[in-house]
Amino acid sequence: MSTGRVRRDATERRASVRTHHRVLNPQELSSSMLIAKLSDTAELRTLELFDVDALFALAQANLDRNYWLPRTLQRSDIESRVTSGLEIVAKQEGLLGGIFERGALCGVAAIWRYAAETRSIEIGYWIGQHAEGRGLVKRACRAVMRHAFETLKVHRIELRCHAENVRSVALAERLGFRREGCFVRAERLGESWVDLLVYGMLEDEWRDCDAARATD
Ligand SMILES: CC(C)(COP(=O)(O)OP(=O)(O)OC[C@H]1O[C@@H](n2cnc3c(N)ncnc32)[C@H](O)[C@@H]1OP(=O)(O)O)[C@@H](O)C(=O)NCCC(=O)NCCS
Repeated sequence: MSTGRVRRDATERRASVRTHHRVLNPQELSSSMLIAKLSDTAELRTLELFDVDALFALAQANLDRNYWLPRTLQRSDIESRVTSGLEIVAKQEGLLGGIFERGALCGVAAIWRYAAETRSIEIGYWIGQHAEGRGLVKRACRAVMRHAFETLKVHRIELRCHAENVRSVALAERLGFRREGCFVRAERLGESWVDLLVYGMLEDEWRDCDAARATD
């Protein structure tokens, strides 16, 4: 689907986009909606309420991989996450982005937990097993990082992942993040305690970082 078509579809649906608290006006959404082409067939765009069913189905199919999601995941949990995503978009404090391939949702790349005082934000991502290993998350993260540094003007992006999550560690390093520390046995994963790695990237590092701004 062309980017123009995606924009048109989204515009047509905006009238029905509402949060639990209020309707977002078209200006708020059009000024904040991020659309990035990731390949000839894939793109990243802000997740909206009409994506809840697709996101719920994808999350359910990948519950074993997404250890932070509750085992009893409900559609309403996903709906509140999308609603909060729209709220942080409207406040210019983050982004909940969906990775779409040939129009089908296959993953998520997000920035959230914005701290105004330190102008810092956290990045997170996941993709369905069927779409893994094709560079889509890497490209989506770059788009999200560009949005954070160049549009939201954050000073720092933080990334946290479990030390034994080989793919996520490789991705963080491929994106040019600096490993800053390890919280030893800081998180529970099933019956075990696991180490949590903390990565960071600063605004000036982004400007000089080829790995982050590459287009491959
Ligand atoms: C972590 C995750 C998002 C990675 O997705 P992915 O589809 O493998 O990511 P990409 O294809 O964009 O790969 C990004 C880079 O990581 C590197 N990489 C990925 N897996 C690797 C591995 N096993 N060994 C070495 N490098 C690896 C590759 O170098 C790749 O860069 P390249 O294309 O330039 O070579 C995915 O495995 C996932 O969703 N896992 C479950 C949920 C999760 O753990 N989320 C992260 C929580 S912190």
